[in-house]
Amino acid sequence: MTSIEQFIHDMPKCELHVHLEGTLEPEMKFDLAARNNIALAYRTVEDIRASYGFTDLPSFLDVYYSGMSVLLKEEDFYDLTYAYLKRANSENILYAELFFDPQAHTSRGISFDTVIRGIRRAQETAENILGIRTQLIMCFLRDLSAGFAMATLLESLPYKGWIAGVGLDSDEKDNPPLKFQAVFARARAEGYKLTMHCDVNQQDSVKHLWQCIDEIAVDRIDHGVNSLDDPKLSAEIGRRGLALTVCPVSNAFVTEGTQAGAIRRMLDQGMRVTVNSDDPGYFGAYLEENLVVVQKEIGLSREDLKQLSRNAFEAAWLPQTAKDDYLSRLDAYTAA
Ligand code: ADE
Ligand code: ZN
Repeated sequence: MTSIEQFIHDMPKCELHVHLEGTLEPEMKFDLAARNNIALAYRTVEDIRASYGFTDLPSFLDVYYSGMSVLLKEEDFYDLTYAYLKRANSENILYAELFFDPQAHTSRGISFDTVIRGIRRAQETAENILGIRTQLIMCFLRDLSAGFAMATLLESLPYKGWIAGVGLDSDEKDNPPLKFQAVFARARAEGYKLTMHCDVNQQDSVKHLWQCIDEIAVDRIDHGVNSLDDPKLSAEIGRRGLALTVCPVSNAFVTEGTQAGAIRRMLDQGMRVTVNSDDPGYFGAYLEENLVVVQKEIGLSREDLKQLSRNAFEAAWLPQTAKDDYLSRLDAYTAA
């Protein structure tokens, strides 16, 4: 490990954009398939990895959704979540906000209760044993109907204490933020924080970003790299202090590059940009590796790396006292 890689590894970190279902590693796919008597179309872990030749968002999503077929029981969701939290803890991630996609499971006949109880139990165990703190963000699948999203929102209400906010993911094409305006207004009224994916280089990316801030009034934007295409838009996002959760290695899979140059420009413009992993089980890079890739590509300084980590802790959906505690641990680390 070079000294800057060691610096990245040891730095107190915060992850704000990771899909729990996207942390499903090929090894665990095999284990869960065996436990649940499910036949996989692949014979070996290498065969599975070799099939991960995504070229765009839809081709990734096909593999992502079909991979979930091995997740059936509460203990499967527990094992998936705990494995990620162990990995995150080993990278010095102190706090993480975790996306989950309940509709990808309820539409297969698995109850919302099964999904969230397994995840929640892993969060509690990991916090007690490892000390890593996490919160959940429930995502709606934007390529399904607004009615299904609203029904899912209502189904989540008995578990409101376990969910910090709601997000919007899946295929963005022809599925604008406005399609879910009523769902997000209700989520806000229920006390949830709001975020939405604005994936990179989508048809109408800039229009969707404006809808997110003007019509939905999101608290955060996932990806959002195309905000730089419109100077008024990036200035407005900066003025509001809205955080952007950029995922470089994921971007390299589904667009033509890591968008590391965009991260440089956002840092230079004082935008609250953060680096995250998205679907590390599929893209092969957890948070630490994403930071290493960007550092190598554009030569981030230690000060830049600290700023990225600071941005993430500041953008966390936590009380200010908790954020201040993490920020002072970050300061102590970089002062040492
Ligand atoms: N679901 C899981 N990962 C996603 C991504 N990168 N974009 C949209 N939906 C997703
Ligand atoms: Zn994502």
